[in-house]
Amino acid sequence: MPLLEIVDLHVEVEGKRVLRGVNLHIEPGEVHILLGPNGSGKTTLINAIIGSPKVKVVEGKIIFKGRDITDAPMDERVKMGLGVAFQHPPKIRGVKLRDLLQKIASKFNRDVDVEKLASVVKMEEYLSRDVNVGFSGGELKRSEVLQLLVQSPDLALLDEPDSGVDVENLTVIANAINELCELNLKPSRRRKSAIMVTHLGYILNYVKADRAHVILNGRIACSGNPNEILKQIMEHGFERCVQCLQERELRR
Ligand SMILES: Nc1ncnc2c1ncn2[C@@H]1O[C@H](COP(=O)(O)OP(=O)(O)OP(=O)(O)O)[C@@H](O)[C@H]1O
Ligand SMILES: [Mg+2]
Repeated sequence: MPLLEIVDLHVEVEGKRVLRGVNLHIEPGEVHILLGPNGSGKTTLINAIIGSPKVKVVEGKIIFKGRDITDAPMDERVKMGLGVAFQHPPKIRGVKLRDLLQKIASKFNRDVDVEKLASVVKMEEYLSRDVNVGFSGGELKRSEVLQLLVQSPDLALLDEPDSGVDVENLTVIANAINELCELNLKPSRRRKSAIMVTHLGYILNYVKADRAHVILNGRIACSGNPNEILKQIMEHGFERCVQCLQERELRR
């Protein structure tokens, strides 16, 4: 059974059509990459999968673990095994990071050592601070990934975990994502999956992804090998993807 199946998904944000017929299929253990220009709909797709109230599905279906979750509330999806690391994480004043992590651990019945997981992303000293308050850009990304490490979702939605991250912290975040997605196990033993948005793809030097999709103007214009697609985009921009999408639409 596929872990996630998205069928002909059309989504509106504030009355504006942002996604226009997205199809996506993810098997357990797979890591998929989303590429695409600013404003093309990557975050909107992540928001639609997690069930953010900011987005409205106007057509199509989202099926997770065989169940239609298109209209399910966010907390139910999270209980089912979806997790998200936001592009712009919210600050939570008055709540210490340690307390939030312990709450997540108990909600998901995870017997984890919060300090040890914090050390994976070098966040031990941040545990006594309010969640994300005053965190730098790179610290925010590590804090988000840490929350996912504690949750250990079956499908992690990672929205630009590498944006604004320096070269050393990139390997720190990549190690955490590898742990999250069980990428250190043999492919046949992996069960955890991820969808990861990235712009420059440096993280792909450390995290092995199975498939990449280019989103253009709310549609998946192209899917294939992550390194090949990224190389094409670096060399030719998104122009080839635009052509390819136009040709495909003309053939319809
Ligand atoms: N609350 C909103 N009100 C109006 N338009 C919105 C709102 N949220 C998103 N949009 C629009 O939806 C489109 C897609 O936004 P989205 O955040 O999904 O893009 P993205 O691909 O993640 O871009 P980026 O690479 O810059 O993060 C954009 O044109 C954006 O302005
Ligand atoms: Mg975005």
